Amino acid sequence: MIKLSKKKVENYTGDMVAFLVRKTADRAPSCVNHSTQAVVDRAYALGDFAGEEGKYLMYYPEKSGSLQARRVLVVGLGDGTLSREMFRKAGGTVAAAALKTGTKEIFVQVPDGLDFEVNEMVECLTEGLLLGAYQFRKYKRASVDEENPPGRIEAIELGAGDRSAADHGLRKGRVAAMAACAVRDMANEPGNVWTPSSFAEFGRALSGATGLTCGILGMREMKKLGMGGILGVNSGSALSPVLVTLEYQASKKSPTLLMVGKGLTFDSGGISIKPAKGMEDMKYDMCGGAAVLAAMQAVAAERPKGLNVVAIVPATENLPGPAALKPGDIITIYGGKTVEVANTDAEGRLILADALAYGVAKYKPAAVIDLATLTGAVVIALGHHRAGLFANDDGLAARIIEAGDRCGEPLWRLPLGKEYSRQLKSEVADIRNVSNNRAAGSITGAAFLQEFVGSTPWAHLDIAGTAYDFTEKTYMPKGPSGIGARTLLEVIRNWK
Ligand code: BES
Ligand code: ZN
Ligand code: ZN
Repeated sequence: MIKLSKKKVENYTGDMVAFLVRKTADRAPSCVNHSTQAVVDRAYALGDFAGEEGKYLMYYPEKSGSLQARRVLVVGLGDGTLSREMFRKAGGTVAAAALKTGTKEIFVQVPDGLDFEVNEMVECLTEGLLLGAYQFRKYKRASVDEENPPGRIEAIELGAGDRSAADHGLRKGRVAAMAACAVRDMANEPGNVWTPSSFAEFGRALSGATGLTCGILGMREMKKLGMGGILGVNSGSALSPVLVTLEYQASKKSPTLLMVGKGLTFDSGGISIKPAKGMEDMKYDMCGGAAVLAAMQAVAAERPKGLNVVAIVPATENLPGPAALKPGDIITIYGGKTVEVANTDAEGRLILADALAYGVAKYKPAAVIDLATLTGAVVIALGHHRAGLFANDDGLAARIIEAGDRCGEPLWRLPLGKEYSRQLKSEVADIRNVSNNRAAGSITGAAFLQEFVGSTPWAHLDIAGTAYDFTEKTYMPKGPSGIGARTLLEVIRNWK
């Protein structure tokens, strides 16, 4: 669907060619194509287009001119410092303009002579184009959806001078974008379709296609292992829980990175039931699990050297069935810690506790990163613009922040500490699953998870505010953002 072109832009006969231009002080932006330059000059003279970031100009060239494509799009890059995100957004703008018109084929001319690495420029353009072209139309019949033209973007070609650098960037961008789109596909499915066993099927299929090792624990194995967290949360649901593991081994002696993702396929709150308003969004409570599996899809494609990578997804629904956990119940997590479940809506931490404790014991990882739509409180703290980051290790935190910045998935670190952990003291068990007040809700959630990783370097990403309804960007649609998979991949790519 996206490839490097062997053609010159002048010879492309498809639906649209796109040029990216910089804004320049007191002059029209300059474009490599002469006939397009004349159009840009006229638009600039009228004050309609000066190459501002996010703005574009579209026209329909004459067949006899120097361009054969049916449409020409000129996208502004603005005059700010060039950045990876700028190219991602430009790719998203091209995709949006294509979707608005009936454009199915696009040729994007990669700009020459900008002070920016061609491979990174192409990597990010590719991400922006593919993420921006994403649509989820599975349950919409064309006749019902009159607002959106039924077309989709079928073929994207990139024209670049430095083909080997461009090829490198294109491969990276494509792998990353496909991972994020896989997260969106899983998250867009409703709770009656994407169930715990869907995670198992995804893991098995990925293993079959790539040779990653996939393990599936069902209810029986969980009982044997003493995974009282996931079993407890599952007890109100008619569907069996699963715990999916996917393993990539670079070599026996390489260190292991463990990724754990919350796979709550629907969170009603359980007996501590949530209000009806907005509850439908709780089908997105599996976005952390989706992100770690999608990251494994990318790992399988890239086969990094020197790092083993393992993903674990504990998956269940949280429903108030007749056997459901009740406030006050005490359960035992893998490894033996007991938890007083004061609120059954704080269920993510219960299933993650089993998965973290099990993963740390089984894989002895050099580091653990978990991703979870864990708390509404993180939305209050950071809004929909940054995910919350918690870590017991500064080096790991720094790596993840850097990776998030490079990916356009920004994070903000929040503290941990004894004073917060103390809020989880229980009178009757080792620990309570919630504090008895609402203060620092995201931190106490993280502090709970911290109890189950021992001294292993660990980081927790609370993506409740960014997994869906993420900051609007040209390449971020309404609905699930697919956040997390690209950041994890970036951490893995830059491990050593
Ligand atoms: N899945 C929710 C968190 C959530 C809230 C995700 C909003 C996305 C958007 C989680 O399981 C939950 O319900 N957390 C409770 C914790 C509380 C009971 C301490 C919350 O945030 O209210
Ligand atoms: Zn909940
Ligand atoms: Zn939840």
